[in-house]
Amino acid sequence: MAEMKFLEVMRGRTVFPPPIWMMRQAGRYLPEYRETRKRAGSFLDLCYDPDMSVEVTLQPIRRFGFDASILFSDILVVPHALGRDLRFVEGRGPMMTPIKAQDVDALDGLLFHVNLEPVYETVRRLRRELPPETALIGFCGAPWTVATYMIAGHGTPDQAPGRLFGFSHPEAMEALLAKLAAQSAEYLIRQIDAGADAVQIFDSWAGVLDEASYEAWCVKPVAEMVRRVREKHPEVPIVGFPKGAGMLYDSYRAKTGITALGLDWSVPLPQARRLQALGPVQGNLDPMRLRAGGKALEEGVDRILEALGDGPLVFNLGHGITPETPIAHVEAMVQSVRGASR
Ligand code: CP3
Repeated sequence: MAEMKFLEVMRGRTVFPPPIWMMRQAGRYLPEYRETRKRAGSFLDLCYDPDMSVEVTLQPIRRFGFDASILFSDILVVPHALGRDLRFVEGRGPMMTPIKAQDVDALDGLLFHVNLEPVYETVRRLRRELPPETALIGFCGAPWTVATYMIAGHGTPDQAPGRLFGFSHPEAMEALLAKLAAQSAEYLIRQIDAGADAVQIFDSWAGVLDEASYEAWCVKPVAEMVRRVREKHPEVPIVGFPKGAGMLYDSYRAKTGITALGLDWSVPLPQARRLQALGPVQGNLDPMRLRAGGKALEEGVDRILEALGDGPLVFNLGHGITPETPIAHVEAMVQSVRGASR
């Protein structure tokens, strides 16, 4: 059997046209997702129900035939499985009771894998049901990004509560990140055991930190996670996505040991090329180009293929697709990428 295109790129090979998938590809822009989501009741019920999670994971694969499928879940199931409360409120996103410095030691990993068993079951079923040429990507949040929601209790524009917590309670922050790194590594290992072909670590809030905090709170815990996952599964590719890291992208791969770099749309293509000379990259179309469609979309796709098409590239957005995006634009993007010639 020919190797999956996504994995070929992860091994450092150039595949053209490149494999393509989208962050948040199972989501509200799809009517069939909205229908399943309504049936599920709450977003978390959807995440913990293998029948429905499998269904929504497969929806974008059926429609667009993407080269990779990402497990349907959320990064916040990790703190939830450690005993923190979590709700998703319509129009507001995740809500948690903010963790205090004195609560960190009480985080309880005893039922961690029991609580996450539905996720592992979803992965097992997905690997059986997906076409053999479609890679299955497992994922988790990076410790810093997960910690920002645990600390603030909800999303914020710049994660000021998380940053303030880190500077005010450096020891509690270090303990929290170490705990999350250890548990999240275990979580990824179990997803791989269950059949994930690769994993992605989402550090969506890497871009709000100064250099020293970025090193301590993003790079160091992710490096520890990579070390642990590689100990068990040395061959499985790990995609790192330190969104917004700017110049700090340059040293991320070497310092963390990840396989491939997920690039957000603000990474200039010349920098992306330099990063690609050192290994595979994934990205980085602005999701608003996709939403706008037409010329903005065509130009965005062309520029990325022109700059990065002759090296190991996984075509993706620079962040998740938004709910308002027309399906016809996704079809157009897939067509341009798949129909591209050099
Ligand atoms: O990419 C995929 O299709 C897989 C599923 C996935 C979801 N969340 C489903 C989801 C993945 C990989 C995530 C990751 C995630 N979750 C991140 C990191 C990536 C990123 O987008 O920055 C973060 C920060 C979260 C936390 C989270 N979950 C927030 C802030 C929100 C609310 C924002 C929103 O878009 O509503 C969610 C909810 C969420 N996670 C939805 C989906 C499909 C929408 C909820 C719904 O359907 O009601």
